[in-house]
Amino acid sequence: MDLGISGKFAVVCASSRGLGRACALELARAGCVVVVNGRDATALEQTAQEVRDLTGATVHAVAADVATHDGQRAVLAAVPQVDVLVTNNGGPPLRDFREIDRDAMLAGVVGNMVAPIELIQRVIDGMVARRFGRIVNITSGSVKMPLAGLDLSSGARAGLTGFLAGVARSVAHANVTINCLLPGSFDTRRLRSSLETAATRSGTDVATVRAAKEAAIPAKRFGDPAEFGAACAFLCSASAGFVTGQSLLIDGGAFPGVM
Ligand SMILES: NC(=O)c1ccc[n+]([C@@H]2O[C@H](COP(=O)([O-])OP(=O)(O)OC[C@H]3O[C@@H](n4cnc5c(N)ncnc54)[C@H](OP(=O)(O)O)[C@@H]3O)[C@@H](O)[C@H]2O)c1
Repeated sequence: MDLGISGKFAVVCASSRGLGRACALELARAGCVVVVNGRDATALEQTAQEVRDLTGATVHAVAADVATHDGQRAVLAAVPQVDVLVTNNGGPPLRDFREIDRDAMLAGVVGNMVAPIELIQRVIDGMVARRFGRIVNITSGSVKMPLAGLDLSSGARAGLTGFLAGVARSVAHANVTINCLLPGSFDTRRLRSSLETAATRSGTDVATVRAAKEAAIPAKRFGDPAEFGAACAFLCSASAGFVTGQSLLIDGGAFPGVM
């Protein structure tokens, strides 16, 4: 399917692994010039080469911490303009909310709310001037459904969602869209590490924890990151220009709500 974005410049933050990588791969398949990013330069270069090999796309790798101003400047400077921006970052660790001190709280808010907003501030006027822009923020299903121990993640991402709701409407006239993608449980390094933590805490093995968690999802499985990447590429497509200010949950039916 031609997504109508061949030749566009796409920056995908935190994309050396997992959901970010899947988004970068699909945007490269759609013909975008893609910037991939992560802090570990070795893993990042490996991903960049895999995406080049799989798609033939031009891929720039920028090793940087996207929560910092220098990191943000570096990822955005890798291309002459930004037409597509996918904001992403690691999430705060699983922790009882009583144990989160002020520094940890601020770091979580900076990583999952402030940094995406700062990135958007840096690219939005160019998108408006060129009458094309697609911004997708990777948040979390926990914005809609609380998960014990991920309260900081939920709060920061809900803050981001609320902040951008008005911003999205203010740029819609210029064919610039801002949407959020809310992952449920996807089979990535982050998920596997949380399964290991849960197994240790409950004194059982990872396979047992995995089976119980998969059984609790109506789809009876974890999501494949490729499914997430495909949804991201659709939201970035030329024909998705009328979809803005939305939060799309991709969770195999785990959220038990009507809407
Ligand atoms: N997987 C799920 O089921 C799920 C569910 C809900 C929400 N989420 C959220 O979705 C996001 C992506 O999760 P994932 O499962 O794809 O995680 P992942 O597989 O662990 O991948 C995280 C990626 O982000 C990069 N990264 C982390 N911190 C960074 C930073 N400060 N600057 C630049 N790059 C950074 C990592 O590379 P480096 O470590 O080398 O920097 C890696 O490429 C996270 O915020 C997570 O909380 C995931």
